[in-house]
Amino acid sequence: MKITILNGSPRKENTEAMVNAFAEGAKEAGHEVEILHVGRMKIAGCMACEYCHGKGEGKCIQKDDMEKVIPAYLNCDMVVYASPIYYFDMTAQISAAMQRVYCIGKPPKAKKAALLLSSGSPNTGTGAVETYKNMIGFMGIEDAGVCALAGEENKSEEKLNAIRDWAKSL
Ligand SMILES: Cc1cc2nc3c(=O)[nH]c(=O)nc-3n(C[C@H](O)[C@H](O)[C@H](O)COP(=O)(O)O)c2cc1C
Repeated sequence: MKITILNGSPRKENTEAMVNAFAEGAKEAGHEVEILHVGRMKIAGCMACEYCHGKGEGKCIQKDDMEKVIPAYLNCDMVVYASPIYYFDMTAQISAAMQRVYCIGKPPKAKKAALLLSSGSPNTGTGAVETYKNMIGFMGIEDAGVCALAGEENKSEEKLNAIRDWAKSL
């Protein structure tokens, strides 16, 4: 499978450790993995101009780092969203990248999705999980699982190994 991971964190810390663990496991199982650090990219929100659904024929009028994400959406068999929790939600950066899928409707080949969340406190990501589940349900993509680490769990080698094993089993 070709797996695209969108990392919504601007930092190279907790979420990125989860992303790397997932990527390592998936690669060990023979999957091709592409990580896009959307948290450090310049991606604006959708303007609802509808250019993409008219003259643009599927292309967005905005020229920003989304030009790196769209080809990944078009080619992946699995999409993994990863984000720290910012005020009970995913980051603004990954939310923009998720909503800008609007120009192509959905990743056309993606059959599976997963969600990785990192937070300071437990149970603060329920809104983010709901958004993810609603979004993939709307796009007709199967949920392969959600992993949320909080507080000290972010530094747990055992938890990161569990992510590696999960990704290896895909
Ligand atoms: C702007 C901001 C908002 C945050 N909001 C929450 C929150 O609502 N709930 C929570 O448990 N942690 C919150 N945190 C803590 C982060 O989710 C946590 O430190 C996470 O592990 C950071 O991941 P990172 O190392 O990938 O940046 C917030 C952090 C920031 C910077």
